[in-house]
Amino acid sequence: MSKDIILTGLRANNEFTLGNYLGAIKPMLDLSKKAGEYQINMFLPDLHTITVEVDYNTLYSHIIHCLKQYVAAGLDISNQDIFIYRQSYIPAHSELAWIIECFTGFGEASRMVEFKDKSNQIGTDRVSAGLFNYPMLMAADILLYGAKWVPVGDDQRQHIELTRTIADRFNKKFGDIFVVPEETKNQAKFAGLESPLRIRSLRNPDKKMSKSINDPNGTILLTDKPEEAAKKVISATTDSVGKINFNWEKQPGISNLIQILALISDSSIQEVTQQWAGQSSYGNLKSAVASAVSEELSKVQSNLLNVDDNELMAKLQASEQAMETVASAQLLKVQQAVGLRPKL
Ligand code: ADP
Ligand code: TRP
Repeated sequence: MSKDIILTGLRANNEFTLGNYLGAIKPMLDLSKKAGEYQINMFLPDLHTITVEVDYNTLYSHIIHCLKQYVAAGLDISNQDIFIYRQSYIPAHSELAWIIECFTGFGEASRMVEFKDKSNQIGTDRVSAGLFNYPMLMAADILLYGAKWVPVGDDQRQHIELTRTIADRFNKKFGDIFVVPEETKNQAKFAGLESPLRIRSLRNPDKKMSKSINDPNGTILLTDKPEEAAKKVISATTDSVGKINFNWEKQPGISNLIQILALISDSSIQEVTQQWAGQSSYGNLKSAVASAVSEELSKVQSNLLNVDDNELMAKLQASEQAMETVASAQLLKVQQAVGLRPKL
């Protein structure tokens, strides 16, 4: 029997943030230790990357840099159960996305909060139609390979639910075409979490930390100098409650720091909260988080220098070839179901 698939991807529209790292990369890599038992697909959604404006001159090399970051963060590319690939190198992604778009309601797609937020921010004339279609391409990314497990941060929860709805719709209409990914609450549990993660901005802890928002003091990039990242933590916005509690409503800044410390030190929120509960000065907690973050960045940055370019490119090509075969076969099944190819 073939192995269950765990799949995720991160756009290369900017350097990865600590939010991307703790919310998506680290959970995926923790799961990738199960390679052998599972197949791991960690891909780079380069077509999703251009749904927003980027530096087109440097995009190609930045994509390779982002793939190297996966390896620096701990992806074991020598493992035969791990596949690493670029979305645009496998044309079936765009082909299936188009078919899925034709089976998705305009109203249904218009309810996606990510799109609504972004189009409010940049205006409906400037926001791209690609960004509107983004969730349907994401559904194609998942459904082409029959991935059951998709570790992503909290902001992507609605897109996973849409993928499930679309997969169900096809299965009801055409018979068993797609593997329906697991519900998001099971996804989090599978990754050993209570719920999908949302790391907040250090400056505006009511908002998520994001590589797509200009918030340099609230955002830690994986490429930040460790001592600069530490400074950002030390000057994080907190509150005037004067006691350390884990409470997103009343103390989002402090809760964010507790969450970051727990994730980096592989402890639970409860353990870290207990350790710090009741302390009245925030300074010690900030220093502990600052050291944990700067050590983690130093580790990833020194690993990055040691990634072997040739080994990475060889792995990419082999994975892309293997996944092209799987994706084309799945696409053909869908094309036959909807009448674009003859049923044999
Ligand atoms: P960004 O907003 O940083 O551009 P993306 O939309 O490219 O992030 O998301 C890449 C992955 O990282 C997704 O799985 C997303 O859920 C996760 N992610 C992004 N920001 C955060 C965050 N602040 N906390 C947790 N996970 C996050
Ligand atoms: N939407 C994800 C993000 O913004 C990237 C992504 C694209 C993805 N396709 C995916 C994640 C499929 C998981 C599965 O970063």
